[in-house]
Order: sequence, then structure tokens, then C-alpha cells
Amino acid sequence: MHEYHNNILLGDCIELLDKIDQPFVDMVFADPPFNVGFRYDKYHDKLEKNNYLAWTRDWMTACLRVLKPHGSFYVAIADDYAAHIRIIGEELGLSVRNWIIWHYTFGQQTTQKFAKSHTHILYFVRDVKNFVFNDLAVRIPSDRQLYYNDARAISIGKIASDTWDCYSRVCGSFKERQGWHPCQMPELLLARAVAVSSNPGEMVLDPFSGSGTTAAAALQLGRNYCGFDISEDYVINSRKRLADLKTQIETNSTAPLNQLESFELKRLFVEMGIHAQTILDTPLFLEAFIKQFHIRMNNGKTYDRSAIQKALKELTTWVAR
Ligand SMILES: C[S@@+](CC[C@H](N)C(=O)[O-])C[C@H]1O[C@@H](n2cnc3c(N)ncnc32)[C@H](O)[C@@H]1O
Repeated sequence: MHEYHNNILLGDCIELLDKIDQPFVDMVFADPPFNVGFRYDKYHDKLEKNNYLAWTRDWMTACLRVLKPHGSFYVAIADDYAAHIRIIGEELGLSVRNWIIWHYTFGQQTTQKFAKSHTHILYFVRDVKNFVFNDLAVRIPSDRQLYYNDARAISIGKIASDTWDCYSRVCGSFKERQGWHPCQMPELLLARAVAVSSNPGEMVLDPFSGSGTTAAAALQLGRNYCGFDISEDYVINSRKRLADLKTQIETNSTAPLNQLESFELKRLFVEMGIHAQTILDTPLFLEAFIKQFHIRMNNGKTYDRSAIQKALKELTTWVAR
């Protein structure tokens, strides 16, 4: 059991989960192979449909066995199997809270149909009366606050919508790109799910860890993680990614904002979708940003304006790509 704690383990997720006999995770984020013929190191991504669905039911059942009663369960999936995942989830006793669309802003070009630019993320909970939803972690300033100066605006900002269009795919040229994994998800997308559906110190499981993105988000948000992958290469490389991140977190701790604060600031900036220089140059935007940052941190601390401005200034040159 101890080895499952803050580790990426090599092996088949069902076999690894079958070794555990008690619920130990607060949240699952699964981004399984989509059965579309993708080229992975050790997995053949083209099963016969019924076999793929039977396997899906098996790994979801295995994850559910270790999910605590108040737990949340996210599954990222492409068009072909999204409806099946919903039905399997409901048959296993889960309830859908949101059917999220990740609109990843640019898709692969084709000549005879529209370019595909979305993935589905099914967000389930075990118990609709008892689950974690840290709403302050996913609020952003509303148009009423930013543009209309409307007295009816909710002062703590609005909850982000179920269309997630602020995260680009992680393309080959992006700094974040690990290079050794073919379909890495964006860290900030994972961070939104982890921040809203788990609390600091809780355990986040990713049964298909790949490049270790879920673990990277969990680590930066002060959660524990557990990941599995059947590729030795991916496991070795993602462990290194996480070790590097840990070193970065430790060395960053003397900056005016600590690592968690800088990460949350970047998360808010990306989710607001306004260029950092525009925020800095527009007093209304800057006030809204500073206020929302305090709301997100939710720790009673008053942050120095200049520290926030400095961090935003650094983001004027930050581009995901
Ligand atoms: C879509 S990728 C996950 C990508 C990940 N979300 C990321 O951001 O890097 C799916 C991963 O599942 C792994 N995989 C396939 N079958 C598996 C199994 N039975 N158990 C564990 N991992 C598996 C593949 O090697 C691949 O890395």
C-alpha cells in the first residue's frame, strides 16, 4: 500500500488495483486510450468494440472499488465512446454532475469534414449528497464585473462553465510538452479538476498516467497522487518529471509568491483568457484579478499588490505554445 503513495507504478491498472482491498482515493481522473488506433509504446489502441467496452467496465469497476464514498470520478473520452462511458458509469452507481466539453481550440485538419476540436470529460460522483466541490477554486470574474459594471454581479465571481475552452492541446512546440508521450494533457486542465474535486492532502488516482500530468497537477496543488502505466518508458520518464517538479517547488519557495500561489495565479490568468498586459493596463481588470486571486487562495492572507503585478508581468511573455 505504501508504494502507491505519491508514486507512478508500472503495470496494468486493473491488476494493480486488485491488490488493494480498501478505498484509499478521494478522486479519480482517467484518460484511457480512446480505441482510435493511437500509437502508444506498449498498448495496442484498436480493440474490437465489445472487448473495449468490457474492458472499460472492468477498469471503471476496479477504480470504483478504491474510491471513497464521497469521491469524484472524471473520465476523458472521445466522441465514439462518450455515451457508453456515461451509461457504464451510471450502471456502476455513479451520477453525472457535468458532461464537460474540452474545446481545445484547434483541431486536426481534414478535407471532407469539420476539424475535430473537442474531447468529452464525464464528471461523476458516487454520492450526489456528499461530494467535494470547491467552488471558490473555479470561479472567474464575470462579464457583469469586467465589462458592464452591473450591480447584479455576484461579487465572488461566476463558476466556470462546462465548456472548457481556455486550455490548448499540448502541441509539439510547447514548453510544457514532455516529448516522450504522444498525447499529454495540459497541466492546468487537470489542475482545475483536482482543485475543485479534492482538498489539500487528499489522494488523486490516475489509472492511465501516461506522461504523469494528473500527478504533476496534484503535486503542485498539495494533493497526494497515485498513477499507473503499462509502459516502463512512460513510468521512468514521468517519475523524472515529478522529481524535477519537486525540486522546482523547493527552490521556488523564496520568491514573493510561493509555488502554490504562482501556480494558482497562472491558473486564474489562463482561465480568465485575457492577455496579462491588458489586465495590467486596465484598472477594472486588474482590481478584478487581484480580488479573484484572493478568493481563489481563500486563506485569509492579504497579498501584496506589487507581488501580483510582478507575477502578471512575468506572464506577459508566457504562452502555452
Ligand atoms: C491517453 S494516455 C494518458 C495520457 C495522460 N493523461 C497524460 O496527460 O499524459 C493513456 C495511457 O494509458 C496507458 N495504458 C494503456 N493500457 C493500460 C493499462 N491497462 N493499465 C495502465 N496503463 C495503461 C498507455 O500506455 C498510455 O500512456
